[in-house]
Formats: sequence, structure tokens, C-alpha cells
Amino acid sequence: MASPASRRSPRSRDKTGGSSFIDLVWSRVARPLLFRLDPELAHRIVLTLLTIMPAFGRQNDSDVLEQNLWGMRFVNPLGLAAGLDKDAVALAAWQTLGFGFAEVGTITPRPQPGNPRPRLWRLPEHRALINRLGFPGLGMEVAARRVERLRQRRPRMRIGVNLGPNKDTPPERVADDIAALAQRLGPVADFIVINISSPNTPGLREWQAPQHLRTLITRAFAGRLEAGANRPPLLIKLAPDIDSDQLRLICETAMELRLNGIVATNTTTAREAVGVRADYPGGLSGQPLKSRAREIISQIYRHAGGALPIIGVGGVASAEDAYGHICAGANLVELYTGLIYEGPGLPTTIVDGLTALMERDGYGRIKDAVGSSA
Ligand SMILES: Cc1cc2nc3c(=O)[nH]c(=O)nc-3n(C[C@H](O)[C@H](O)[C@H](O)COP(=O)(O)O)c2cc1C
Repeated sequence: MASPASRRSPRSRDKTGGSSFIDLVWSRVARPLLFRLDPELAHRIVLTLLTIMPAFGRQNDSDVLEQNLWGMRFVNPLGLAAGLDKDAVALAAWQTLGFGFAEVGTITPRPQPGNPRPRLWRLPEHRALINRLGFPGLGMEVAARRVERLRQRRPRMRIGVNLGPNKDTPPERVADDIAALAQRLGPVADFIVINISSPNTPGLREWQAPQHLRTLITRAFAGRLEAGANRPPLLIKLAPDIDSDQLRLICETAMELRLNGIVATNTTTAREAVGVRADYPGGLSGQPLKSRAREIISQIYRHAGGALPIIGVGGVASAEDAYGHICAGANLVELYTGLIYEGPGLPTTIVDGLTALMERDGYGRIKDAVGSSA
């Protein structure tokens, strides 16, 4: 069996995560230039560059980090969080950067423009972002075709799709939107996530209430069933702004309905608790969210006794952060804001660092570390 070190990416750096050429170029040249631009314009430029990047470069794989979840192989536990590649434009590049999976979306049934601008702000002193984008996107047909095309090229990376209702869908039709999305996108995805936690779509978080959740999950299962043979695992994505009683009820409902997992967490509407000035409306992500997200992850792990797979997300910007979420109970970890501040070398830094942390603690397999501190 190849040793983890022998299977590391040629782009990787020493195991302690020392700076690579890519990190230097990012922190000294690219980031200062991009941070002078409007955040959305910078985002568009980077995504466009990523679409012309060589597709399917070598991926970060390592025997210790490999995991079998929902009957699927994940070559490493690090994924791209939803929101960065809403329309699945740069899918192949995420594998090239070293992610083991990517979650695209949030995808809505019909195209929509999102909220009026400005709607995205950087908080560099907190290594954070605030957004109230409101699901701008091209709609499910475009996304489904793109994901389908990519799947035909047999990526090693897993692809999740994150689903949400259109903003103008009335509450009584939200479950129809979710069912339609699950039906159209289920067949092309490795897993499906229902987003009931964005703070930027009015009323969406109310679907976290158990009675509403039950309706939504049942309809999504039905939509997925109608789609045919490929029935990918179904997860929900939660907000960090819920108390432990609410969370316990959600976990009980999820287990009763045999939901396949939970993504924790989305951005937070809290400001004071995380020591950030409340200048902008919307959801806060990045470093100030980390401890709250980790708390939610460990609570879900304890409520479910480890029986509900968790994708941990919130404030991950280093191998230690990712490892902390895994030890709190996450089977997989995602990031978004960390990539904006640390740059494209971050996935490789994290994957290498995770291997080193596991060796340090004597874990031979990532699944042995899951929940070890919960
Ligand atoms: C600009 C931006 C847009 C986002 N859009 C979405 C989205 O469309 N759907 C979703 O489920 N989460 C969305 N998120 C939330 C992220 O997926 C993630 O849950 C959150 O940012 C916490 O992770 P992070 O601290 O690594 O960024 C968005 C986050 C940011 C910063």
C-alpha cells in the first residue's frame, strides 16, 4: 500500500503547511489586487480564471484520508461549500485545486437575479465576509446540464447539489420547488442538500421547524424517487442561529425520516456574540463563525449518537480548523471564506496538514478521528 506521503500531490508543500509559491503569489500579489476591486467583481474574475484552468489535475488523495460514506468513496474529506460556484461553472477546477468534493448551488428552479447590490462585503480584520446575495443564479436546467456533462468525464471528486426555492415562490409552493429540484438534479448528483438556512431568502429558515421540515423532506424524497434509479443521499443545511432544544428536535425528526445527513452550518445573523460590528445586513461567514459552527456540529453528533453523517462548515481556514470540526463530529468538512483569504493553495495545505495531524494522534483512518472530542 502506498504511504500517504508517497501519494501526496506534487503541488503540495511540507507537512507543517509552510508557504508554497502559490501561497506567496496569492498573499503578495493576487489578493491585494483583487481586494481593491468590488467583492462581486473579484469573485467573477476568479471564477472565470478557474474555468480555463486545466481540468482534472491530480487530486489530493491519501489512504488515511479516504472515506466511504453513503456507499461512495471520498478521496479526501475536504469540500467546497455552497455559494461559491452557484451555477456549476468551474466544477473541474475544484478537483484540480485538491478538493475531494464540491457542493454547487444554491440552485433554484427558475433563474433569478438575487437581491439588489451591494450585497457582499469583506471584513479583512475578522477574516470574514457578510453576504445577502439571495440566490442569484441561472436556474436548475442550466446547472443540471453542466453537472451532467462533468459527470460524463468521470471526475474522482464527488459532486453535491444545494437546492433552494425561488424568492417569489409563495410559502405553500416551497415544497413543490424542492420536489422539482430533487427530481431534476437528483439523477446527476452524488448528494443533495436542501438549504433551509440562508438568512437572505425571507421565511426560509422557518422550514427548520420540525412540522415544516417533515413536509419538505417527505416531498424531496418523493421528488427523488420519481427521478429514477440514481437516488443520492439527501441532507439538510442548518443555520447556526438555533438553540439546543430546536436542534434536538431537528435531529430527532431527521433520524425518524431517515434523512441521510446534516450540513452544519450556514452563515450567521449574529454579530455581537462573534465580536463583529453590525454594519451590514446578511449572513456572516469565516473565522468569527468557527466556534459556533463547531458547537452545533458536536451537538448534532451527540444528539444522533454519531448515526447521522455531518458535513461541518464554518470558519475553516487551516488543517487545524478542519481537524477540529472532524473531531467534533464532522465526517466531511467544507469551506468558502477561507479560500478568499488564504487562496487556491489552501485545499492542499489542509489535506497535507490533516494527514500530519492524524499521524500525530495515532489515527490510521479519518473515520477513527470523527467525533473523538464530541
Ligand atoms: C458569498 C457567500 C455566498 C453563499 N451562498 C450560499 C448559498 O447559495 N447556499 C448555501 O447553502 N450557502 C451559502 N453560503 C454559505 C456557505 O456555504 C457556508 O455555509 C458559510 O459561508 C460558512 O462557511 P465559511 O466560513 O467557510 O465561509 C454562502 C457564503 C458566502 C460567503
